Amino acid sequence: AKKAVLGPLVGAVDQGTSSTRFLVFNSKTAELLSHHQVEIKQEFPREGWVEQDPKEILQSVYECIEKTCEKLGQLNIDISNIKAIGVSNQRETTVVWDKVTGEPLYNAVVWLDLRTQSTVENLSKRIPGNNNFVKSKTGLPLSTYFSAVKLRWLLDNVKKVQEAVEENRALFGTIDSWLIWSLTGGIHGGVHCTDVTNASRTMLFNIHSLVWDKELCEFFGIPMEILPNVRSSSEIYGLMKAGALEGVPISGCLGDQSAALVGQMCFQDGQAKNTYGTGCFLLCNTGHKCVFSEHGLLTTVAYKLGRDKPVYYALEGSVAIAGAVIRWLRDNLGIIKSSEEIEKLAKEVGTSYGCYFVPAFSGLYAPYWEPSARGIICGLTQFTNKCHIAFAALEAVCFQTREILDAMNRDCGIPLSHLQVDGGMTSNKILMQLQADILYIPVVKPSMPETTALGAAMAAGAAEGVGVWSLEPEDLSAVTMERFEPQINAEESEIRYSTWKKAVMKSIGWVT
Ligand code: G3P
Repeated sequence: AKKAVLGPLVGAVDQGTSSTRFLVFNSKTAELLSHHQVEIKQEFPREGWVEQDPKEILQSVYECIEKTCEKLGQLNIDISNIKAIGVSNQRETTVVWDKVTGEPLYNAVVWLDLRTQSTVENLSKRIPGNNNFVKSKTGLPLSTYFSAVKLRWLLDNVKKVQEAVEENRALFGTIDSWLIWSLTGGIHGGVHCTDVTNASRTMLFNIHSLVWDKELCEFFGIPMEILPNVRSSSEIYGLMKAGALEGVPISGCLGDQSAALVGQMCFQDGQAKNTYGTGCFLLCNTGHKCVFSEHGLLTTVAYKLGRDKPVYYALEGSVAIAGAVIRWLRDNLGIIKSSEEIEKLAKEVGTSYGCYFVPAFSGLYAPYWEPSARGIICGLTQFTNKCHIAFAALEAVCFQTREILDAMNRDCGIPLSHLQVDGGMTSNKILMQLQADILYIPVVKPSMPETTALGAAMAAGAAEGVGVWSLEPEDLSAVTMERFEPQINAEESEIRYSTWKKAVMKSIGWVT
């Protein structure tokens, strides 16, 4: 017999840099009922290049949906209770595909990719007017991080892309667009759209008027006809075309960091969250105001939960490498076999013993925006072993967050009294305690770390025409909180932090 469920269910795709997940929540309690996760390959064809296969990404989404539905079946939960699907995704990663064949015309150029360094240098010499031209419209510094320069590179270097543009067959999208187009239409093409949060990461989108900016498209030389339609983060975009959930509306779409902000219910001005994924991203809701940072943070669209709903903005501190450093220790050095092992190694020593690890693999993002930085491990002695390096890697994630929090406090004027955290790495208790010690404020984490997916599910469930999620706190009754208090003295915390900063200075200027 099918088990009675407490309310309508909502599914969410969380397509991150390291893995894809599909999760199903109860919309009345936010209880996570079932999920499935698949790791995604990353290719490094040249030093500094990072690519992924868009078809593998799409396939992983289908696989996660099918497997999750199977697991629900084993729990006797009827999948016809799933009323909507939300999509959250790694942002900025750039795909161009052929709308006639449905084939990607090149691998996805991942946000971490550095190949556009010279493109950025050349563009920065030609910025019209004052240097603020790009930042004042987009909230972003001119950097390899964002989609416009990746798309410029594809247009300059990939013949298939050039031909498809000339023949009016090319479509551009970030991962959300690629997925929604594919999921709603298969190879015959579905809905070509994106949401305001993802659009705000392309460097082609005007965050004030919320439309593609003609002057920016001219500056970057991007043909506007290949860009997706920009929609709100919560509305029905289309229906699933195939698979176990055929016919279910896709009605939520948010870049993953915005989704986590929603999932943490940071709806008020001044509320912030920090998500530990491949990178680490601290976003603070600034309400309807675009706040421009004086301390190296980005201004970005936080969310717009409905066609007629107002837009919210956020200040963001982006750290490129967080979970990625653990994957590097696993895949490149082989000192751990699985990511979870890092906690055991770090625990064996409980200190880095003076070893500092700056994982500037893709240069340094906020607050430095320093493409010339490269990773360093310093302070080594003959006593240093892999446990100390593991500990230093975890500490690096926490120090980078401290730098962002300091910048955020300076920009906002009112220091955060505690930090709400989420993401895969937050199940690591050593990391959480270290984070509280290094920030010297309490760190608060939800019992269910999949806040990104939860945010996408909430947006999908709340959409007009779906209406199964009210976005009120009582709808999150299944989520409880755990708190980590600082346990070292403030002086010790400061000494460690200032040594970290010395290490950061040594990593800068490594490449010219
Ligand atoms: O901006 C990049 C970000 O969206 C990637 O997120 O979860 O893969 O670290 P994640």
